[in-house]
Amino acid sequence: MPHHPPEPFRIKVVEPIRRVDHRQRTLALQAAGYNVFGLAAEDIFIDLLTDSGTGAMSDRQWSALMLGDESYAGARSFYRLKAAVDHIFGFPYFVPTHQGRAAEHILSSLFIHPGQYVPSNTHFDTTQANILARGGRPEDLVIQEAADPKTRLPFKGNMDLEKLEALIRRVGVENVPLGMITITNNAAGGQPVSLENLRGVSEIYRRYGIPFFIDGCRYAENAYFIKLREPAYQNHSLLEIAREMFSLADGMTLSAKKDAIVNIGGFLAMRDEGLFQRASNELILREGFPTYGGLAGRDLDAMAVGLLEGLEEDYLAYRIGQTAYLTDRLLEIGIPVIEPPGGHAVYVDAGRLLPHIPREAFPGQALVVSMYLEGGIRAVELGSVAFAHPDPETGEIRHPPLELVRLAIPRRTYTQTHMDFVVQVMARVYERRERLPGYRLTYAPELLRHFTARFEPIP
Ligand code: F0G
Repeated sequence: MPHHPPEPFRIKVVEPIRRVDHRQRTLALQAAGYNVFGLAAEDIFIDLLTDSGTGAMSDRQWSALMLGDESYAGARSFYRLKAAVDHIFGFPYFVPTHQGRAAEHILSSLFIHPGQYVPSNTHFDTTQANILARGGRPEDLVIQEAADPKTRLPFKGNMDLEKLEALIRRVGVENVPLGMITITNNAAGGQPVSLENLRGVSEIYRRYGIPFFIDGCRYAENAYFIKLREPAYQNHSLLEIAREMFSLADGMTLSAKKDAIVNIGGFLAMRDEGLFQRASNELILREGFPTYGGLAGRDLDAMAVGLLEGLEEDYLAYRIGQTAYLTDRLLEIGIPVIEPPGGHAVYVDAGRLLPHIPREAFPGQALVVSMYLEGGIRAVELGSVAFAHPDPETGEIRHPPLELVRLAIPRRTYTQTHMDFVVQVMARVYERRERLPGYRLTYAPELLRHFTARFEPIP
């Protein structure tokens, strides 16, 4: 029987949840156009839509809120956050933003011209969309093995270094204004990237003079995997590992809603002073003055505390243990998932679970709908609904490698019993799998369509 370490916290405040009945769930889904983003949270029992901004802050973070300095310019809160950013990531300059995609927006607007390429292991959807919105071309160059859910590799989020170099040579270095990598690799199973790979990526970008930015949302989980799985780092502290990872880059984007365990916040950090000045000007236009970004002073303080709490080892052992527990239990009942377990989520291979539903009829969507109907659980499709887009040259639809459904685990929020309930519901879905219908779109915007698209079942 799989197990996981006990939660290294006790519960001081509770938020009641309730399970509405099957009929209400059916009506709610119909009204939402079968898109679970359109459901009221009130109608959800266990919400695994995202690990973003859904974590439980600690008593220390809640007390830090009271220290928030709401001065428009030069607030103490900003300097406390600045000290934490410097301490962990080592970047001398940064601008706070209201969340990760705002940092991506500013980064994209500073670097990308139409037709230019931005490589990464796998861009997350908001990064992909921000690049596309500037007329750029996001390129996902994750290692080949990432497309095989059953291959167990310690660092399945790594970039394929040969593909990276081949891309730069093919399109010409002048057409690669910026290079990225996402740690952990959210869109490809929440899999970590090794320090060895980060070093290789950094070396290539530096050799070609391409600025290197890390999407560091899950810096702490990635650091923990490096400590566990990369022998040279067994005896390093997580802080040392984090510092080494970011020492290889010219800057980073961060959504603090993940590993910094706050409900809102993010930043864009860099080494270059000129770039910082340009970023500050963009920030003033879009987010706010450079010492608060789009945030309140109290948000900056909660983030400063959370950035360090996220790196605590007993917390990460529990967190990664919880994900591994859910993964192993789902495998036991026959649900195909990406192996090995990643950091923040379990990724079900809906394409394999529902082979009777073609990609054009969205097997991931079918699974998401059935999880809600069966048990009031909300998950997210990360397959063709989220990622398929027309190739800018040929217009042909490019599908992602896998049709995934992600069960994201909010931080410090649900207990092991909740995970057991999820497994029970998934067992019922599994029994009914051959009868689940596919879906067709009845409405979809051009970018980031999964948030607002509407569907109907195909009879
Ligand atoms: N990069 C990665 C790797 C992400 O996972 C996310 C958000 C972002 C950037 C954007 O950050 O939401 O603060 O604007 N991921 C969330 C998720 C939404 O559910 O995985 P944001």
